[in-house]
Amino acid sequence: MVRCDMIKYLGSKRRLVPVLRDLLSSSGASTALDLFTGTTRVARAFKEEGALVTAVDTARYSEVFGRCYLELDACEVDQSQLVRTIDDLNRVAGEPGYITETFSHRSRFFRPENAARIDAIRELLETRYRESWMYPALLTSLILAADRVDSTTGVQMAYVKQWAPRSAKPLELRVPELLPGTGRMLRGDAIELAGTVGSFDLAYLDPPYNQHRYYTNYHIWETLVAWDDPEHYGVACKRVDSRDESTKSVFNKKREMPGALGRVVGEVDAHVVVLSYNNEAWVEIDELVTMMRSRGRVHVLAFDSKRYVGAQIGIHNRAGERVGEVSHLRNLEYVLVAGDRSIADRMVQPFRGHLALTR
Ligand SMILES: C[S@@+](CC[C@H](N)C(=O)[O-])C[C@H]1O[C@@H](n2cnc3c(N)ncnc32)[C@H](O)[C@@H]1O
Repeated sequence: MVRCDMIKYLGSKRRLVPVLRDLLSSSGASTALDLFTGTTRVARAFKEEGALVTAVDTARYSEVFGRCYLELDACEVDQSQLVRTIDDLNRVAGEPGYITETFSHRSRFFRPENAARIDAIRELLETRYRESWMYPALLTSLILAADRVDSTTGVQMAYVKQWAPRSAKPLELRVPELLPGTGRMLRGDAIELAGTVGSFDLAYLDPPYNQHRYYTNYHIWETLVAWDDPEHYGVACKRVDSRDESTKSVFNKKREMPGALGRVVGEVDAHVVVLSYNNEAWVEIDELVTMMRSRGRVHVLAFDSKRYVGAQIGIHNRAGERVGEVSHLRNLEYVLVAGDRSIADRMVQPFRGHLALTR
């Protein structure tokens, strides 16, 4: 099971992971592609199921996560060395640098004492561990530690006005939960890689579906990996290169996104394609079904995502008695499964209760 190595991430498939894991398992896939891997959470679940996984993303931090969780083999590496090194790093004293100046003095993403420790540890990773097999695991550990003490609502376009309570906790690196087996991580554009990255039993696609850019929403993680002290702008001190066309994704452009996704769906070389989608997206579900028809049989599974708090606890009167139900949902998450008829039918069999459409 993927347990606690969680980072706050827009569109992360935390709740759908068990479904995606079961779909992979009932497909019988032994190779899988996760083309927009983000946190690598889904790719990790596939790896745990025994699949040989290739993951792709444009983000620098995703590449680091992939090198850590997918490429490192828990059975092959010296985990005690990793534990000792992380213990040592947790004793490193703070030394203010770019992170402190930019994200603690000019903005307020981290408390100064934590920012100074992030600076000191990150610098040490560069000077002492750059060539070590542990480098991606240490950097992953640092990003996750920073995420646990940041003062945001989960995106880095802004920090919260009052310090978030968690920001007062001391930064603490933990040992990442490495998995047995190996895999492959590629940093690159899904459009360029979809048709060239290899053949797979199953391909999973979870692209951005609206204007929210990952590059700007997670600019601090980009900088923590690049370690390049970039010029910045605005209250959130975003990297100046956020303005460059090269850092923009076609999946965040309303007019271009459907065509780009259609191309990826058409080009990816896999027996089955699984696509996540939620109804807050630009593209209509019908349009996606049409796209996926090129792959063969299409099934659409629908899952309620978290309901409003009122919907979870019901409506109560002043005496605290339950007097009604809230019927509306915050949103629906869809999983589209397309491919060879026999495999696609078998995959959705355990989810019959969620089947919304078959074409
Ligand atoms: C919805 S998130 C994926 C979340 C992931 N499934 C998870 O559970 O963590 C979309 C991802 O697509 C990546 N992305 C955006 N444009 C891309 C592109 N052109 N090629 C590859 N990845 C891209 C973003 O960096 C982001 O990590």
